Amino acid sequence: MNYDVLIEKAIEVRELAYAPYSKFKVGAAVMMEDGSIYTGCNIENASFGATNCAERTAIFKAISEGKTTVKAVAVIGDVNSYTYPCGICRQVIVEFAEGPEIPIIIIKNKNEYIKKTLDEILPGSFSKKDLEL
Ligand code: THU
Repeated sequence: MNYDVLIEKAIEVRELAYAPYSKFKVGAAVMMEDGSIYTGCNIENASFGATNCAERTAIFKAISEGKTTVKAVAVIGDVNSYTYPCGICRQVIVEFAEGPEIPIIIIKNKNEYIKKTLDEILPGSFSKKDLEL
């Protein structure tokens, strides 16, 4: 899989972040089962707790448009280091991921990124399979 477009879109949407409180902009792009790409930024709130992360914004947009399965995720936060998805976002990715091996692309800039698998960043995850009693 070539990640160039996913990376470009994550970098682009980061600029739309609504982050007046933390000033920490995050952009994410997810590729769905049919190759379509959905983007998301973090959207903060004066109550702080109502903040939505970039990854979840992207995934929720895709799911609410009828897509079902995440095949790849790209995320960019701090442009001087690598920002990994937070714990809540990892759990949401598990819910919709095609499987534990999907790539999670952690971007610093267009030319520098780290590729991990979902299982590497959230091993031993709790998921719907645990509810199949
Ligand atoms: N943030 C994300 O958008 N994604 C993450 O995975 C880490 C944290 C956002 C939430 C908040 O707006 C800001 O980064 C600082 O925590």
